[in-house]
Amino acid sequence: MNTNHIKVNVGDFQIGGEERRAINEVLDSGKITEGFKVKDFERKLAEYTGTKYAVAVNSGTSALIAGIAALKRKNGDKWKSRKKVITTPITYVATSNAIVLNNLEPVFVDIDPFTFSITPDNIRAHLEEADEPEEYGAIAPVHLMGYPCDMDEINKIAKEYDLDVIEDSAQALGTLYKGRQAGSQSDISIFSFYIAHNVQAGEMGAVVTDDLETWKLIKKIKSNGRMCDCRICTRQEGKCPKLLAYKGKDDFDPRFTHEFVGYNFKTMDFQAALALTQFKKVDWIIKQRQENVRYLNEGLESFSDQIQLPAHSKDISYLAYPMVLKPESKIQRKQLREELEKLGVETRPLFGCIPTQQPAYMHLKEEYADKLPNADYVGHSGFYIGCHQYLTTKELDHVIASFKKIFSSI
Ligand SMILES: Cc1ncc(COP(=O)(O)O)c(C=O)c1O
Repeated sequence: MNTNHIKVNVGDFQIGGEERRAINEVLDSGKITEGFKVKDFERKLAEYTGTKYAVAVNSGTSALIAGIAALKRKNGDKWKSRKKVITTPITYVATSNAIVLNNLEPVFVDIDPFTFSITPDNIRAHLEEADEPEEYGAIAPVHLMGYPCDMDEINKIAKEYDLDVIEDSAQALGTLYKGRQAGSQSDISIFSFYIAHNVQAGEMGAVVTDDLETWKLIKKIKSNGRMCDCRICTRQEGKCPKLLAYKGKDDFDPRFTHEFVGYNFKTMDFQAALALTQFKKVDWIIKQRQENVRYLNEGLESFSDQIQLPAHSKDISYLAYPMVLKPESKIQRKQLREELEKLGVETRPLFGCIPTQQPAYMHLKEEYADKLPNADYVGHSGFYIGCHQYLTTKELDHVIASFKKIFSSI
């Protein structure tokens, strides 16, 4: 069999009739900015995750920035003296960036090398050893690659130290933690619907929460602090509560009245329309990915002395197929990735350890030297390939054959 032409990408997005119809519906509606599709998507996301409220924004990064800003504003007194947020060193850098952009300090604790998640033991040890634990305001765990963090234990610690919990579920839509949806276990949780994720919109994100005040704040923050915070706008029916309250006072328009300084993080109906088409298939997408992980695990089992393969579970909604080269591996990550790419198997590094390996955080390198051994290790030896829902058996077999070819030649 000639397999030279096979290309196994990390992700794929297939545009069918339904996707085209969804986009055309938006075009035909005459309103392309945030409208009915966004509302519908928010309702479906809240329903799916088992949370009360969702706000769609233009990216997962914006969701993090707005969500953290909302918690700071809501719990203003508490946050006056608190500047630190405990988070993970192994994540897409947006988690940490959003903390910094809120004028807070990310504090990194080490991860479990198998699930890539920060552990309750490490969080607790850090707080117990901290000179001033009252400087800490929140914990921001990340369900990386779809692996759920131990939220019950994290929430227990948060309660003890009066910390907010920001769940970064960008990579974990549909993951179950003790039977509950990832993203439903915290003060706020965020999702990303970036093209590489399980539900794809191109660029879009969302925050979910069970707290009405937080939801209202996020709605304001995402639109330059404007005062509108109704679930459904009733302005056109003459029932806008803000207008009624101000009636007769002046030429007042709540849409252009801003209570505080915010951002423009609004998304468009196009993105929501695409995400809605993917949402319909979400169970199938998750199941296919789980099945592909199982298949790859079986095919690559003979390399498990050299490569840490992902744990298979029907509770995990896999973003990709993550692997970590073991210290005894005969090959380095760089060479393996190059060889795989030559054979048409696309790869990505599993994120650099933020304070020791990401250039933007090099001012922390010395402080964290030797403090995060697992994250440092995964940061230079972890990588991932695709396990997406459109992969065929032939393509999965090509991945397995590529590993065999590479390992037999070294
Ligand atoms: C863990 C994590 N957090 C946040 C984000 C940011 O999402 P976005 O790319 O939509 O801004 C991502 C994106 O991949 C992510 O993986």
